Amino acid sequence: MLDLILRHATLPDGRQNIDIGIRDGRILAVEPGLAARAAEEVDAGGLLVTPPFVDAHFHMDSTRSYGLPRVNASGTLLEGIALWGELKPQLTQEAIVERALAYCDWAVARGLLAIRSHVDVCDPRLLAVEALLHVKARVKPYLDLQLVAFPQDGVLRSPGTLERLTRALDMGVEVVGGIPHFERTMADGAESVRILCELAAARGLRVDMHCDESDDPLSRHIETLAFHAQRLGLQGRVAGSHLTSMHSMDNYYVSKLIPLIREAGVAAIANPLINITLQGRHDTYPRRRGMTRVPELLAAGVPVAFGHDCVMDPWYGLGSGDMLEVAHMGLHVGQMTSQDAMRQCFEAVTTTPATILGLEGYGIAPGCRADLVLLQARDPVEALRLRATRLKVWRAGRLVAETAPATARLALPERPAHTDFLS
Ligand code: FE2
Repeated sequence: MLDLILRHATLPDGRQNIDIGIRDGRILAVEPGLAARAAEEVDAGGLLVTPPFVDAHFHMDSTRSYGLPRVNASGTLLEGIALWGELKPQLTQEAIVERALAYCDWAVARGLLAIRSHVDVCDPRLLAVEALLHVKARVKPYLDLQLVAFPQDGVLRSPGTLERLTRALDMGVEVVGGIPHFERTMADGAESVRILCELAAARGLRVDMHCDESDDPLSRHIETLAFHAQRLGLQGRVAGSHLTSMHSMDNYYVSKLIPLIREAGVAAIANPLINITLQGRHDTYPRRRGMTRVPELLAAGVPVAFGHDCVMDPWYGLGSGDMLEVAHMGLHVGQMTSQDAMRQCFEAVTTTPATILGLEGYGIAPGCRADLVLLQARDPVEALRLRATRLKVWRAGRLVAETAPATARLALPERPAHTDFLS
């Protein structure tokens, strides 16, 4: 006797009419016509059942603070950083916790059950670190929150930050962050990458740096990150986030760089919504898009995930935790319109970030944790087209969110009485 069976599901890999059997929070069987009984059965009716969405890059300490203490007037990354600096002294732990928990409510409703969040470690009180460690424990029953020690003001540029970053790791933050392009000089940027990679290697931790988030084609810290990842044997444990300067780099240099990233086993995390809005702000026309070279990185075998980065904070005023919206933007900005490329965009918000984060038991196979999302779409491409409704979201076999189907009633002569937008 099972706890739950989802019947007649379509899976992201195209298998149809699949039954998924679940007991004690785990998937026991994935097969057509499962001959078993369960306390509860749900008929997916041929719709897509996917493992949950995963956000590889987020800032949960600043989310839902839009307008505090004012709105970013220029819309640039640098004004956003300055604005965050104005807000920081006014932050309280209670406010950060409340906003983060409220964001996690949105995430769960959107079928987003794992988030890697950077947390600013420059504040001597480490207020945000304490708050997000508390949030991580609170949401654990329904959402995996992985924290990155992020030196927003620069590990060398801001005195005392390396010590605070190390203290954050001691407190339980599990990934080493960085921001080499924000250090005072290119040389300091490269030095910060060396220091932080060595720190991660010594502690056996993963690395995820904000890297080259700039339109400057000569911002090449990703080269240094790949070098140290290879030198220190960190292959498969390092990610470069943003990499927007690659958008503007010389093609010849990129033809050398991408194979080096591949050899070093470094993953790339693009943040399409934020890159398209923050980059190119100093351009007239043509105005650069700023997103890194996603199709080229994928073609070379570099794992690429899409992150949300910001929701209603000093850098971005929109968003609701919808990773299909993120992938939809990535698809457009990267002109990834073939069927294969659109599927890669779906993977960039599901399986690829799950691997980058090192999530245990992720996927739809016997033995995996029964974290599942029933979408109002027949396949991943349709999910992207519709930014499909998450009809049901399960965490370890327990229903944690439900949304009514998107349906419009019509009053038209000789036409159907409603449409649900499915093809
Ligand atoms: Fe970021």
